[in-house]
Amino acid sequence: MSTISLSQYLAREEVQHGLDPQLSRLLTGVSEACKNIAWLVHSGALAGVLGLAGSENVQGEDQKKLDIISNDIFVDAVAQTGTVCGMVSEEIPEVIRIADNLPIGPYLICFDPLDGSSNIDINVSIGSIFSVLPAKEAKRDVTDDDFMQTGEHQVAAGYCMYGPQTQLVITLGRGVAMFTLDPKTGTFVLTNEDVKVAREAKEFAINCSNMRHWEAPVKRYVAELLEGKTGVRGKDFNMRWVAAMVAEVHRILQRGGIFMYPRDNRDLSKPGKLRLLYEANPMSFLMENAGAAATNGHQRILTVQPEKIHQRVAVFLGAAEEVETVTSYHAE
Ligand code: AHG
Ligand code: MN
Ligand code: MN
Repeated sequence: MSTISLSQYLAREEVQHGLDPQLSRLLTGVSEACKNIAWLVHSGALAGVLGLAGSENVQGEDQKKLDIISNDIFVDAVAQTGTVCGMVSEEIPEVIRIADNLPIGPYLICFDPLDGSSNIDINVSIGSIFSVLPAKEAKRDVTDDDFMQTGEHQVAAGYCMYGPQTQLVITLGRGVAMFTLDPKTGTFVLTNEDVKVAREAKEFAINCSNMRHWEAPVKRYVAELLEGKTGVRGKDFNMRWVAAMVAEVHRILQRGGIFMYPRDNRDLSKPGKLRLLYEANPMSFLMENAGAAATNGHQRILTVQPEKIHQRVAVFLGAAEEVETVTSYHAE
């Protein structure tokens, strides 16, 4: 069987669809970062990467050693490509500029270097998420303003999941492609080029421990799912919660379903838990490219105008029918 590697896939995109070679180089840099992180994740305690770092990020969350190590790997690998003029990372409070001794390019990148941090020390799936935006101009002194673009402007997005297999999933705005890391050769090999999410679902994912804090439309929607065959929905739904958005999105891309992290009343300063620029936008771009949907309960996530680089947003994504239903409950 002939196989297609990530670099062959990107070369084909350059020839057939005019993919910018600089964007191609940026994605290669991202894939190199992911390979390095995958090696550390799979080595765990043997590489001394488990446990807390003893610091907090800008969101007041405890940083794990692997959050910081992954951030450093990402920043370095991306900067070396010479294709970006600025970065935003979950782990760094301000916009990251490119060192004067390195070339810059026409792109901006936002990333969550390690998603699902609470899974690190228990050897459960985690990942990295990234989103690429065009810079209005390639300049060294980028500011927060340069990143205030809606998700519709993304030119590429994806994630890498470090699970039983390491898989890189990307969209260039023309469908979704999945690559599996061959541990023997260190090559990402194309293993699924036609990722599609069914409109209907029979599986949902939400952290039910927050139920008492949810808003009324979400309480109603989940109550109806839980009623199963005997309720208004007339069918049974199964539930999953991995506590890593990457793993939930990966499951939905393969098996369907809906994932929700709604806003709730725990802390009114936080409209949802997930961050718009480096969690919600890239995952929404992937979903829409797989025929699924993503809203904040009121509008497509890809049309939400960011006002802050670490802005949070409510997320409902996956099977179009289910996302439409829960979104319609918000309008009532
Ligand atoms: P991160 O580890 O990057 O902070 O993100 C974790 C996120 C997301 O991946 C996951 O869906 C959610 O937090 C889990 O939240 P709970 O701990 O509330 O279940
Ligand atoms: Mn995350
Ligand atoms: Mn993270």
